[in-house]
Amino acid sequence: MKRRTMVKGFAAAAAVPAVGVALGSPASAATGSASSDSLVFDPAGYTELTTTITDTDGVAHEVVYHFYKAITYVAKPVDATYQSLNVSVPVKIDGTAVDATHAPILLANQVGGYMPSSTASATGIGGAMGPAGTISRQQLALAAGYVVVEPGARGRTLVDSSGTYYGTAPAAIVDLKAAVRYVKSNKGRIPGNVHRIVSAGVSAGGALSSLLGASGDSPIYDSYLKEIGAAEGSDAIFATGAWCPITDLEHADMAYEWNWGANALSSGSLVDRTISKELRTAYGDYLASLKLHAKGFGKLTVRNLDEYLVKTHLEPSATKYLAALSDADRATYLAANTFITWSGGRATFAWADFLTHVGARKKDAPSFDLFDLSSGENNLFGTGTTKARHFTLYSLRHESGSSARLDSDIPGKLDLMNTMHHLAGDANQNRSKHWWIRLGTKDSDTSLSVASNLGARLENLGDDVNTSYYWDAGHGADEDPGDFITWIGKVSGYRK
Ligand code: DHB
Repeated sequence: MKRRTMVKGFAAAAAVPAVGVALGSPASAATGSASSDSLVFDPAGYTELTTTITDTDGVAHEVVYHFYKAITYVAKPVDATYQSLNVSVPVKIDGTAVDATHAPILLANQVGGYMPSSTASATGIGGAMGPAGTISRQQLALAAGYVVVEPGARGRTLVDSSGTYYGTAPAAIVDLKAAVRYVKSNKGRIPGNVHRIVSAGVSAGGALSSLLGASGDSPIYDSYLKEIGAAEGSDAIFATGAWCPITDLEHADMAYEWNWGANALSSGSLVDRTISKELRTAYGDYLASLKLHAKGFGKLTVRNLDEYLVKTHLEPSATKYLAALSDADRATYLAANTFITWSGGRATFAWADFLTHVGARKKDAPSFDLFDLSSGENNLFGTGTTKARHFTLYSLRHESGSSARLDSDIPGKLDLMNTMHHLAGDANQNRSKHWWIRLGTKDSDTSLSVASNLGARLENLGDDVNTSYYWDAGHGADEDPGDFITWIGKVSGYRK
């Protein structure tokens, strides 16, 4: 209710032109340009806070930081609760003054499940903590002397009093881009190096992080950005971290059956064999169309993708895990998991045995575009007062017959939401060139090939890609948050 009033209120300011040029100039203040003034970062608008952050070695650090809270990052917010960000700037670490003027900026989105995310009521950094048992990567970044920006974003479930969904696709990515533009357009006012923005997110947030990285400055978002009064200028980011990205949604059902089709549900029953097989078959054509190549494998197809995953990601993951165990613990693990051969300090196994080891698949078939429209992704592609829609021909036609056609706006919405779209063909030149991709080997929220295809495509494009799969880890795992912080320092050139 509150937000609807705001939309109307801000609609009046819609006529105020572009923000970029007038930013912060006395002239803009004199003309009372509310929308441009509202996008000027106020360096003095902070609260000084002190927190203790324990690093990944278990060492506690006292960090004094400036906390800028709930800054609305667009001039015409639809819902400022979500279209706001927090900024944390370290000024003293363990009693020593630090200057974060040129530090990299970690842009940590808080999106999960493509739901709305808000940092507006946070009382300090890391208002939303990382997955259970992990140390918030935002806090580690702060303790490393980096600037941390935590943006909120609209999400799929938001609905106004007239029943209109206002956070469905592409709202979340548009908001994150607007947040980036806000930061970049405030160069010189906002602390940190705006040319070294590193995005991070998990799951749906990982998908959006990868999309942000791949789609820098893409014109397909322009009209949406204009509509919410985003700052003018670039939304390209320097580097991208993505944990278990749930992207490539229109091919996720196919990919899922290729990966997990033989695995039973937790109930013990197999999914519908016909549906599983049809989707699995369709994945072959899609994979071939990606024209991915990998060293030692040539073109990736459904004939070698399993072996590629095993050799490139899964065996190295198991090897790393087992090598870190004590001899006794390793022996115990291997005795309980005889499908693994441990020889010469390396783990080897077969794909089929790995699938058995993972066990129950999390989702039924189809896993994303559900026939009854009940998935989060169906809601993500809702529009207007329609809560949920089909976004694949397969599911649509299963329900509505073989001549049914997707709503005409769906293909465009899919492109707006799909990281792979921006990497196809010549690929977007303004994408991030540094990538950190992570995934648990027991994560069946989507196919394991979603993250690996993304990594393979980026490698084929010549980007710097750091991929690692966490052995036996489930959805949302982050087992090397400290390494990510070190990586940021290296790729940004800030450290060593
Ligand atoms: C998330 C998990 C899912 O299984 C999915 O389909 C979309 C998002 C998540 O955890 O963000």
